[in-house]
Amino acid sequence: MNLQLPGRIAIVLSLGVFFSPYIEAQSADDTTSDIEYSRKGADTCIACHDDADTLAIFQTKHALPSDPLGPFGHGQLQCEACHGPGGDHSPRVRRGEERPPIISFGPDDVTSVSERNEMCLNCHNDGIGFSWNHGPHDVDEIACADCHVSHAPRDAVMQTSTQPEVCFGCHQLQRSETLKAFSHPFFEGNMDCNGCHSSHGDTVATTLARQTVNETCYECHAEKRGPFLWEHAPVSEDCGLCHSPHGSNHPGMLTRRAPLLCQSCHSQAGHPSIAYQDDGLASGTSSQFLLGQACLNCHSQSHGSNHPSGSKLLR
Ligand code: HEC
Ligand code: HEC
Ligand code: HEC
Ligand code: HEC
Ligand code: HEC
Ligand code: HEC
Ligand code: HEC
Ligand code: HEC
Ligand code: HEC
Ligand code: HEC
Repeated sequence: MNLQLPGRIAIVLSLGVFFSPYIEAQSADDTTSDIEYSRKGADTCIACHDDADTLAIFQTKHALPSDPLGPFGHGQLQCEACHGPGGDHSPRVRRGEERPPIISFGPDDVTSVSERNEMCLNCHNDGIGFSWNHGPHDVDEIACADCHVSHAPRDAVMQTSTQPEVCFGCHQLQRSETLKAFSHPFFEGNMDCNGCHSSHGDTVATTLARQTVNETCYECHAEKRGPFLWEHAPVSEDCGLCHSPHGSNHPGMLTRRAPLLCQSCHSQAGHPSIAYQDDGLASGTSSQFLLGQACLNCHSQSHGSNHPSGSKLLR
């Protein structure tokens, strides 16, 4: 199917901005549908859809007429680059007759998620496609438009301060974790989910931003990488053995408090008898040494030590 769009279309925006891209022949051979594109591009649509919400698209990067690759660039399909051909949706309909639908990206959209996503991937495949396809969000049929808003000057998911709310819309468990007493500074707008996750998916489990949990953490907590003269084995293995990355009710975002944290791996039995009480440390919190910082009273270097005699993480 080849169609010739007529010469010059001019769009006068309510903002008072005037621009007049030339629309030329647009090959639409790759469309499987027989529906044609509307004759006057965006002008056709705006004749009916001139509310402020819809027109907000003109405040976004997508509307730049100077970007040849954008929907409003020279020779592009404008609104229909995303919404698909609107040739049968646009004409007047008789009273009582139903207007043929068009891809709306809304909750009532009759098209499949993959069809909708394909509209975006037509242009974004190079940047997004590789990691997106078969990633967890793709597999669970999440739409690009579930996270991204196109008709708004600001896309909430692209801003650190507003991104977590978008994700919490579906990830309630993570919301409740981040609301615990100790968490990363999500609500001060200093941290977003993207700090650790790549939202488009990738080959790493739980779509982390780096190859492993630890590599992800080192991005910002480089000092924990070491190398240490005396390593603490679990630290270089997985920060998640002791920390809950989304938040926890224990100071330092620990999965549990010392001594329980330490005792989940270390037996009391072997602890040196110099532990200053008849029953050593075995009596749990009855030992004065296990109050307050507990094991950390003495083993203060939980992440490893660079002190020549720090092999027991005491200094
Ligand atoms: C003659 C008027 C008219 C024209 C021209 C027109 N539409 Fe529509 N459009 C409507 C009506 C009426 C609805 C139904 C609104 C409703 O159900 O709330 C609609 C619905 C939509 C929806 C779904 C909105 C929703 O909330 O689900 C989208 C998206 C849309 N149109 C886009 C377009 C695009 C893109 C064009 C240009 C190719 C276009 N329309 C041209 C009248 C028009
Ligand atoms: C006709 C091609 C085309 C289509 C279709 C298209 N985009 Fe884009 N998109 C672009 C171009 C070009 C840019 C600007 C890239 C840049 O400036 O780096 C862009 C930018 C973006 C950005 C970044 C905006 C920013 O502020 O940095 C997002 C997010 C985006 N598109 C999402 C989408 C989604 C979601 C869809 C489908 C609903 C879509 N795009 C459809 C071409 C397209
Ligand atoms: C789970 C939410 C989510 C989904 C679903 C999603 N995105 Fe994104 N997208 C994001 C986030 C978060 C960013 C910001 C990335 C950053 O800040 O580096 C982003 C950034 C972008 C950008 C800007 C360029 C870039 O890579 O940083 C484009 C373009 C884009 N997305 C397109 C898409 C397309 C196309 C789809 C559907 C195939 C899609 N997105 C699905 C969350 C999502
Ligand atoms: C970059 C892709 C893209 C372009 C270009 C685009 N839209 Fe949309 N449109 C969307 C998405 C995605 C939604 C779903 C809501 C959102 O993301 O804002 C949508 C929603 C709508 C709706 C539903 C009601 C609403 O405002 O939320 C209408 C009507 C609409 N678009 C009309 C248009 C018209 C008219 C144009 C051209 C002037 C246009 N769109 C250009 C992607 C696009
Ligand atoms: C400090 C890094 C970090 C930040 C920031 C972060 N996450 Fe995570 N997230 C992780 C790690 C690490 C895992 C893997 C946990 C595991 O495998 O035990 C994970 C796992 C997940 C999972 C999968 C859980 C499961 O049980 O499979 C979801 C969903 C998730 N995160 C959502 C989010 C959301 C939403 C945000 C933003 C509010 C966010 N994350 C911010 C590090 C982070
Ligand atoms: C429209 C709903 C929706 C939104 C919005 C959403 N997700 Fe998801 N996400 C899902 C579903 C469904 C899954 C797959 C099932 C699961 O693991 O919970 C998933 C899975 C994940 C996983 C786990 C991947 C794995 O391998 O276990 C992470 C991490 C994640 N999402 C992060 C995010 C982040 C970050 C955002 C915001 C930028 C976000 N999601 C927005 C629905 C959503
Ligand atoms: C994008 C940067 C970034 C990444 C990646 C990151 N963090 Fe953080 N982390 C921060 C910031 C910012 C703070 C707050 C520092 C402050 O308040 O002084 C913080 C604080 C912490 C704290 C101290 C919390 C407290 O209550 O004192 C712990 C523990 C922590 N992060 C663990 C991790 C772990 C584990 C990972 C990897 C899963 C990780 N971080 C990945 C930025 C990051
Ligand atoms: C064996 C348990 C354990 C492991 C594994 C662990 N931590 Fe910790 N971490 C702690 C304890 C206990 C504290 C609180 C006391 C302290 O400050 O040492 C802490 C505190 C922190 C703090 C806040 C105070 C500070 O020292 O900056 C950050 C940040 C941190 N850890 C990051 C990490 C990172 C990143 C990893 C993975 C490389 C990691 N932790 C692995 C036990 C652990
Ligand atoms: C996930 C399991 C795990 C947790 C939790 C853990 N450790 Fe360890 N720790 C180890 C392993 C494994 C070693 C290395 C043992 C070895 O080399 O024989 C080690 C080594 C040590 C050593 C040096 C022992 C030696 O013989 O040189 C000390 C001291 C130590 N841990 C204290 C602590 C303290 C204090 C905590 C709580 C903050 C803690 N550990 C939490 C697994 C853990
Ligand atoms: C009062 C100080 C103190 C407290 C509290 C303490 N330790 Fe120790 N711990 C030591 C000293 C001193 C050594 C080293 C003895 C040596 O070099 O032979 C040691 C050694 C260890 C070792 C190495 C054992 C070995 O056989 O070499 C482990 C593991 C350990 N402590 C774990 C813990 C755990 C877990 C806790 C909390 C339940 C804890 N410690 C609380 C002082 C303490």
